[in-house]
Amino acid sequence: MKYILCYISFAFILSCNSNSNTNAQQKDISEKKVYDMYEASEMAILMNEFYAINENIKNDILAGNMPEEFPSDFLKIHTAELSDFKKRTAKFDAFSKLYIDAEQEVFNTESVFPVKERFNNAVGVCISCHQTECTGPIPRIKKLLIK
Ligand code: HEC
Repeated sequence: MKYILCYISFAFILSCNSNSNTNAQQKDISEKKVYDMYEASEMAILMNEFYAINENIKNDILAGNMPEEFPSDFLKIHTAELSDFKKRTAKFDAFSKLYIDAEQEVFNTESVFPVKERFNNAVGVCISCHQTECTGPIPRIKKLLIK
């Protein structure tokens, strides 16, 4: 398990770096981070929390329970600090808003759409943002989708 986690973080760093316009100094910082076995940013810690919360929501749905209370921690996506080598862009903010809207729909008890569809839609926004921001965790995120 430890090995898998390290591998994921490592793959993720590589993919995030290849997307950003790193200058020599930034490269130094991130290389050091890889060497130090990666010090997680506030956003990275939050993302792992998002993963765990969504895993619970998925299990609830599969058990036939309706998700009831919107986890307010999701809103921290608007303020959590990113890794040194990442910037909060307009695109990131737009995807953050889309994500919160989609996640709020999961908890909308008056929705006419099946909860499974609404949940998969929210996970789809995780994936869409990752396609523009950082592709490393995508295979793991896809495991959240309800088949
Ligand atoms: C608005 C864009 C965006 C959305 C939406 C988003 N992510 Fe992320 N995610 C990121 C960025 C950017 C990082 C890198 C954070 C950093 O380096 O500070 C990241 C990092 C991660 C990581 C790696 C954390 C680590 O340990 O390094 C995981 C896992 C992850 N996200 C899962 C998810 C899941 C699951 C969702 C949906 C529930 C989600 N993300 C939604 C942008 C997003």
